[in-house]
Amino acid sequence: MPGPRATLPAADLARTVVFAAFIAVLGLFPGLYVGGSGVPVILQNAGPLLAGCVLGARRGTASVVLFLALTAIGLPLLSGGRGGIAPFIGPSGGFLIGWIFSALVVGLVVARINRANVPVLLLAGVAGILVDYVFGITFLGVYTGDLGTAAVQSLVFLPGDAAKIVAVALIGAVVHRALPGKLVGS
Ligand code: BTN
Repeated sequence: MPGPRATLPAADLARTVVFAAFIAVLGLFPGLYVGGSGVPVILQNAGPLLAGCVLGARRGTASVVLFLALTAIGLPLLSGGRGGIAPFIGPSGGFLIGWIFSALVVGLVVARINRANVPVLLLAGVAGILVDYVFGITFLGVYTGDLGTAAVQSLVFLPGDAAKIVAVALIGAVVHRALPGKLVGS
């Protein structure tokens, strides 16, 4: 019986593009600049988590890379209608690059455990957010010259990110139940 790897490249491409578009739609929600770091509280980082959850490591990562590439060439896809190179070399730059690894790690955790129920997706989401924090806080620390303050300022993201992880796990589990064995396979 053909496994998920046997999906057509065209279908893979379509899913990747749809998810890149989905991440862009999440950017319509405005960012909230609290905590003093210049990094906004946003909804958009739920996109890479859900991409890894639903599409798996390979396709999920591809969708984030596509989204970030479109942003970097100037499309205004980030919250507040921002785009171009500036967001990548500003305080948020590490978090943005970290989204690639968020999707990758989420997909790898789901594939490794080979289950997509709520507890597994919660675990995957926590891992995905943590890897983004590693990139984001390290970059912010280098950017400001104060890693400790960067870490403390980033505590403001925890409540929202916890809520996003729960929402993504619930949505991801519903999607996997509706399409068993069809999505994660990379
Ligand atoms: C940008 O739009 O410039 C990127 C913002 C990155 C925000 C990071 S993602 C992880 C953490 N959670 C949030 O809500 N905000 C930060």
